[in-house]
Amino acid sequence: MHERAAGPIAWMKPFDSLGAEIRDMLRRDMPRVLDIERAGFAHPWDEAEFHRACKLTKVRAMTAALYEPDPDDTGLCAVETVIGFMVFELGTRAVELMNLAVAPEFRRRSVGRKMIDYLSSYLSEKRPRIVANVWERNVDAQLWFRALGFRAVRILPGEYEDGSEAWQFARRWRPAEAAALATGH
Ligand SMILES: CC(C)(COP(=O)(O)OP(=O)(O)OC[C@H]1O[C@@H](n2cnc3c(N)ncnc32)[C@H](O)[C@@H]1OP(=O)(O)O)[C@@H](O)C(=O)NCCC(=O)NCCS
Repeated sequence: MHERAAGPIAWMKPFDSLGAEIRDMLRRDMPRVLDIERAGFAHPWDEAEFHRACKLTKVRAMTAALYEPDPDDTGLCAVETVIGFMVFELGTRAVELMNLAVAPEFRRRSVGRKMIDYLSSYLSEKRPRIVANVWERNVDAQLWFRALGFRAVRILPGEYEDGSEAWQFARRWRPAEAAALATGH
């Protein structure tokens, strides 16, 4: 969501299988991000909530974007499609994942996994954990977090407006994995 006047956009290496990249969320991404958000959650954020979150100093919003050749073969650069996003806070002791979703048609293609890999690059001995709160009834997300090595560590009662609880999932820093990600192996 940052419309930056100056300074580079943060890019990451293309995803091996899809040719997608993770970059800063831009204002123009918002309509597509809202579509993905609504498709992903029973209690979706609205645009104002994205704006509120992104105004906080340590919060960053990023999108996974897919680049494909221009279908008109003009030789100009590729067509871009936003296929996922995440919003997270860089806390002193933990990276707090506030929101993350993948477009339904791109799920189970490691887009979510790559976004978590990206978050892992912010971990260190001083900031050793990624944490995320999940609605108690979002079983798919709970299975996904478990598959990525997260563990349920706390129950937060009454976290949602309807009185339902959140389960907090956490994953600790893995130095060996961080080294592998840094070298691309
Ligand atoms: C949860 C979500 C982010 C997963 O994204 P994804 O890109 O489809 O997940 P990945 O492809 O990285 O999955 C990695 C592994 O997690 C597990 N997994 C993913 N989705 C799963 C599901 N619905 N049920 C069980 N296991 C699942 C699998 O083991 C998968 O590996 P595999 O495909 O090789 O079997 C996506 O389903 C989504 O956007 N859901 C709605 C929003 C949401 O609930 N966000 C939760 C975080 S706040």
